[in-house]
Amino acid sequence: MKKTVLTFKEAKSAGKKLTMLTAYDFSTAKLIDSCDIDGILIGDSLGMVCLGYKDTLSVTMEDMIHHTRAVSRGTEIALIIADMPFMSYQASDYDAVKNAGRLVQEAGAEAVKLEGGADVTSQVKAIVKAQIPVMGHMGLTPQSVNMFGGFKVQGKDAEKAKQFIEDAKRLEDAGAFSIVLECIPKQLAAKITESVSIPTIGIGAGADCDGQVLVYQDMLNLFGGFKPKFVKAYENLGESFKSGVRKYVEEVKSGVFPDDEHSFTMDEDILHKLY
Ligand code: KIV
Repeated sequence: MKKTVLTFKEAKSAGKKLTMLTAYDFSTAKLIDSCDIDGILIGDSLGMVCLGYKDTLSVTMEDMIHHTRAVSRGTEIALIIADMPFMSYQASDYDAVKNAGRLVQEAGAEAVKLEGGADVTSQVKAIVKAQIPVMGHMGLTPQSVNMFGGFKVQGKDAEKAKQFIEDAKRLEDAGAFSIVLECIPKQLAAKITESVSIPTIGIGAGADCDGQVLVYQDMLNLFGGFKPKFVKAYENLGESFKSGVRKYVEEVKSGVFPDDEHSFTMDEDILHKLY
């Protein structure tokens, strides 16, 4: 059955955990969508995991529309949530509504996600007024990396922690249907989760959130290199991938591939007429 914002609402009331992963293209979305996942997020992590940028700040609306279109063509069941990229909503409510509208109308998103707390409630209200569901995103919000001075756990001191609890309530009041909590202490995430009636979706925020989200390349270990503490790798696809590519290179070089099983043939008579 198609997942919607109601699925998210009902899960919180029923105490059922919600599941989300990112996807950025048609074939990956199709695979993830076949696994009974509740939400697929076209995250602006796209900038780092697909486009090779060092952070999310260079991701544009055109990038998000292009990839959201591909994901929505591959998704039948999960709720499709598209990230609003840096500078697509910060400057004004007008920008926020216009750009959220583009993600829905031109790309097939069913909800949008934007980063911030009390500072973005005006944009959240404006987008919701335009009948577009909004997911909030608090904690380590990657679009603020230059203000944070790096990718660091947020909300460890009392003042910031209190502010996050207030921000979550303000986002709920503004009409957000759910909030992502990224890289905050698990005890704070638990407090936020019990302070709001909308579901919280954690990434590096402990087990008491109402659901979890991860970047799919991280949880399938498609990349070597740095792995954040909150990432659990469920498979080692990076190694399987490289092993497959190496075998192919070897077989082409040695003439093992393509063999008859993977080649087409034609009638010998026709062949002879060619000479
Ligand atoms: O961009 C993204 O992938 C995200 C998740 C990490 C929540 O915002």
